[in-house]
Amino acid sequence: MKSAKEYISEHKDRFLNELIELLKIPSISADPAYKDDVVKTSEVIKKSLEKAGCDHVEICKTPGYPIVYGEKIIDENLPTILVYGHYDVQPPDPINLWDSPPFEPVIKKTQLHPEGAIFARGSCDDKGQMYMHVKAMEYMTATNQLPCNVKFMIEGEEEVGSESLGWFLERNREKLANDVILISDTGMIANDIPSITTGLRGLSYVEVEVTGPNRDLHSGLYGGAVANPINVLTKMIASLHDENNHITILGFYDDVEELSTEERSKMAEAPFSKENYCKALNIEDVYGEKGYTTNERNSIRPTLDVNGIWGGYIGEGAKTVIASQAFAKISMRLVPDQDWKKTTELFKNHFENIAPKGVKVKVKPHHGGQAYVTPIDSLGYRAASKAYENTFGKTPIPQRSGGSIPIVALFEKELKSKTILMGFGLDSDAIHSPNEHFGIWNYLKGIETIPQFFHYFAEMSK
Ligand code: BES
Ligand code: MN
Ligand code: MN
Repeated sequence: MKSAKEYISEHKDRFLNELIELLKIPSISADPAYKDDVVKTSEVIKKSLEKAGCDHVEICKTPGYPIVYGEKIIDENLPTILVYGHYDVQPPDPINLWDSPPFEPVIKKTQLHPEGAIFARGSCDDKGQMYMHVKAMEYMTATNQLPCNVKFMIEGEEEVGSESLGWFLERNREKLANDVILISDTGMIANDIPSITTGLRGLSYVEVEVTGPNRDLHSGLYGGAVANPINVLTKMIASLHDENNHITILGFYDDVEELSTEERSKMAEAPFSKENYCKALNIEDVYGEKGYTTNERNSIRPTLDVNGIWGGYIGEGAKTVIASQAFAKISMRLVPDQDWKKTTELFKNHFENIAPKGVKVKVKPHHGGQAYVTPIDSLGYRAASKAYENTFGKTPIPQRSGGSIPIVALFEKELKSKTILMGFGLDSDAIHSPNEHFGIWNYLKGIETIPQFFHYFAEMSK
């Protein structure tokens, strides 16, 4: 029987070219101007699943962007793996910081990807990683090695909060029934240090608006005599952290899961070099909550960050003006046991309370979701671990990530199944940033490792 390695090396160029074609479509879910491209991408995915050997593929309409569903049921008595991924991508801006156009994929070598990486928006997050599953499926069906049932659910709204997917889950519990959910939409420590993501943070995303006087004012005539919304907003934001970088919102930490000393020392075993970390980002030192390591700060601790801030005059030269309004977008990353809706409420009350007289404050909640932690003694985790051992020659390290895939907690609630996060990206792949890329080695390694997961999961389920 043909091994995945052999099959991949025979079809490598085609595997790359198919992904490159997919990356050319600007499926930006956040921007309505790209609606046709997002829809078109779902059709391309549908065709690719049919070609890969699914027996039944459909494009499911939702109130938002369509969800591509595909399946191959070989035996009702065998376990079922549900593969989830997303075909939408983040907006590419700032465009001028890209070395090549975001939707014209190019292959270039980098220090961490000596075999080359594909540079394009969505290459790593998540088209490239999602497409590994399509190609792994092709390999398994083409060589008669699919060991269990498989279902695919590929959505087009992950980057904007997966609202339609929640709607879809509630209505299709039976259709989506499975024994484990498999996702490649996270990362690993390094190509020679494989890891499996065991946790995702939750999220609460809000937008705030501070309104002062009813119009923009001359900053000489009125400056000093009325509240300046930008001054006020920045001061309010600065007050959200204390001198230890602890978040000051009353009740914010009430439900935060505290890890035991054992768990924390286990975490500290994961390799980490502060020097390399700083070097890669060109910063002199790290920064964050007192009493926690960098790895803890970006995984097991909740955070609050301004994602964007605007107001007033930002054009050429100087304009002496006090703007009538100032705005900011703020994300809070949450950890297990923090409820995202409650946290949003806490933020709203706090922010309204600290506003000085002379301004009006509005807090508009956006999307959010719960954190997720997957146990490492589950069948799914053990099968994944064996799969990596087989293809990387090393036992993968379990590691919690700081990122969020809010729908994962909902999967557990609605479908009652655990999710296994087999991510093959690197932190340095610049997802959501200019020059996003995905290593060709990583892409092919993913295609090689996924069938191993199928194999071990089916075998260990017996
Ligand atoms: N794939 C990412 C999440 C991710 C990346 C998790 C790397 C762990 C490691 C996903 O597409 C994403 O960007 N999620 C958003 C949240 C979403 C609601 C917009 C995020 O984490 O900001
Ligand atoms: Mn993603
Ligand atoms: Mn993303």
